[in-house]
Amino acid sequence: MATNHDEYIHSLFGTEEPLLQDVTESIKGNGMPAISVKPEVGRLLSILVKMTRPRHVMEIGALGGYSGIILAGALDKEGSLTSLELEQSYATVAQSNLKRAGLEDKVKYVIGPALQNMESLYNAGQRYDFFFIDADKVNYPAYLDMAIKLASRGAIIAADNTLQGDKVFDETVSDENVEAMRAFNEKMANDERLESIILPLCDGLTIGRVKEEE
Ligand SMILES: C[S@@+](CC[C@H](N)C(=O)[O-])C[C@H]1O[C@@H](n2cnc3c(N)ncnc32)[C@H](O)[C@@H]1O
Repeated sequence: MATNHDEYIHSLFGTEEPLLQDVTESIKGNGMPAISVKPEVGRLLSILVKMTRPRHVMEIGALGGYSGIILAGALDKEGSLTSLELEQSYATVAQSNLKRAGLEDKVKYVIGPALQNMESLYNAGQRYDFFFIDADKVNYPAYLDMAIKLASRGAIIAADNTLQGDKVFDETVSDENVEAMRAFNEKMANDERLESIILPLCDGLTIGRVKEEE
C-alpha cells in the first residue's frame, strides 16, 4: 500500500514498456550511470509532445536514449529530435537504442558541450518548438537563456530534477547544483517572456511556455 503521493503515482504510472526496460539494461551493461528519467516523467513528456505537436525538439542530455525514445516516439511524422550529449560513447549507445526502437531517422546527435552547440545551432538559424533540459544541473540557467533564444513562438521548455530532492527550498543547503537550480526556477517563474509552473512529479519537472508576441 502506498504511503505518500510519489508511491501512489508510481504504483499506477511507474510501469515501462519492455523496450524501455531493455534500454535501462543496455545503460547498465555499458557501465553508464542509471539516471534516465523516471517512467512517470516519461509519460508526461510523451503527453506534452503529443499535445503540442512540435516539429523540432531539442533534448539536452541524451545518456542512453531513454527519454530520446519517448520524445521521438511521440512526434508527428514530420517531427525531428536534436539530442545534445557531451559524451560520444553515450550518444553511440543512445543511437543504437533509438535504432532498436525504429526511430533512428527521427534523431540527430550533436556531440560536445551543449552550450557551445546551442550557440552554433542558433547561429546556423535553427529554431525549436520543444526543449527537454536534462544535463548537468549547474548549467541549467545558461541552458534556459539559450533555449529562449532558440525558441520558436509558443515553444515549450521542460526541465527535470528541478526540486533537487527538495533541497531547493532548504535554506541550509547551498551546493552549486542547488544554487543553479534555484536560479533556474526563479528565472522560469519571473521572466516575462515565459509562463511556467513546477510540477512536483518525481524530482520536479519545471515546464514553461515561451509567450507569443502580441
Ligand atoms: C540525466 S542524464 C540524461 C538522461 C536522459 N535525458 C534520459 O532520461 O534518458 C544527463 C546527461 O547529460 C550529459 N551531459 C552532462 N554535461 C553535459 C554538457 N555540458 N553538455 C552536454 N551533455 C552533458 C551527460 O553525459 C548525461 O548523459
